[in-house]
Amino acid sequence: MKSSVEDLAIFGGVPAFNEKLHVGRPNIGNRERLLKRINQLLDSKWLTNGGPFEQEFEQRVATYLGVRHCISICSGTVALEIAIRASGLKGEVIVPSFTFIATAHALQWQEITPVFCDIDPRTHTLDPVKVERMITPRTTGIVGVHLWGRSCEIKALTDIANRHRLKLLFDAAHAFGCSYEGRLIGNFGDAEVFSFHATKFFNTFEGGAIVTNDDALASAVRLMRNFGFSGYDKVISIGTNGKMNEISAAMGLTGLESLEDFIAVNYRNYKCYQHELADLPGVRLFPHDETERGNYQYITLEIDESLTQLSRDRLMQVLWAENILARRYFYPGCHRMEPYRSSSSHAAQSLPETEKVAERVLCLPTGMSVTSTDIAVICRIIRAALQGSEAVNRRLENRAARA
Ligand SMILES: Cc1ncc(COP(=O)(O)O)c(C=O)c1O
Repeated sequence: MKSSVEDLAIFGGVPAFNEKLHVGRPNIGNRERLLKRINQLLDSKWLTNGGPFEQEFEQRVATYLGVRHCISICSGTVALEIAIRASGLKGEVIVPSFTFIATAHALQWQEITPVFCDIDPRTHTLDPVKVERMITPRTTGIVGVHLWGRSCEIKALTDIANRHRLKLLFDAAHAFGCSYEGRLIGNFGDAEVFSFHATKFFNTFEGGAIVTNDDALASAVRLMRNFGFSGYDKVISIGTNGKMNEISAAMGLTGLESLEDFIAVNYRNYKCYQHELADLPGVRLFPHDETERGNYQYITLEIDESLTQLSRDRLMQVLWAENILARRYFYPGCHRMEPYRSSSSHAAQSLPETEKVAERVLCLPTGMSVTSTDIAVICRIIRAALQGSEAVNRRLENRAARA
């Protein structure tokens, strides 16, 4: 175990891990059952287009969530695009900037302007008071993001949407298996959208879903997902190809059978990090709300440099040298990326909390492939780097001066 600055790989020590430790290594579930399903679909030669696995997957997800409709989609991004279009959003839509770029792109792709609203630094989700201030006559909706699986302030946002007659969608890419006031995410707003990308704790290789309790919206989404076909040779509206294929659905069905195991391991890892990082000044482990159901799939640190005396970025450099590929999600915020940076150059002024949080966040590896021993090693390295911050800074500055 490393305990001093001299041991760190960035200064010539042996890296703590031989293999790279990624933030989101895919969880596979039971390989035999997956392979059995894959053989089945190869034998049947039904690879996509509303196959039996896709249908079963949708039913299982809808039952699990207690929601009327689940429409599986080929990715979370396409699911967002379709949900946005089917809900009739146009003009301006209020979204957080502190999210993955897909939330904003799904709007802009359809020439809808994402209007970036600040977050509550406590929860990293939309601040409802600020949302209400950003509503203009061009606003047609709000897209909240349940970041890290922590639900938005759903009651407050629903109230605002109702009072201003706005549509309310949720990007629930991180929140499969999470609850709000005891009810599973998927049941709120006009519709909610999941991502089942390989980096998510529950994955279908690529994939996503739109879930809703609105029958009319569900029908519109189903049409749009399949080019607007209402039957053979009959197209009744514009649409795209958003279908989930059978191999993805097979992976989803297999993953669902292990969902509770995935969550249990994530929870164990979260508690382990919590224990190992306790009492480290300037390091906040973003708290999951344990009064709700959670999936614990993100281990999110906030590094307060004024207390650690080592910046988040330097800590990240130290970790990467050890093969611990910590990530700065969602740095620097959508408003600082193109095309939004150029089109709303003054956005940063109205996003002070987003700006601060984006400078502080560092996500650490977790999931089925990360053990308690790995976590102890990672945290020991963080401790060594922060306790030796003065030496780490000095050595990195000397190295930069020589370069
Ligand atoms: C918050 C958020 N929204 C949307 C997406 C897009 O999902 P996908 O990668 O499945 O297209 C992701 C991540 O992948 C995400 O993290």
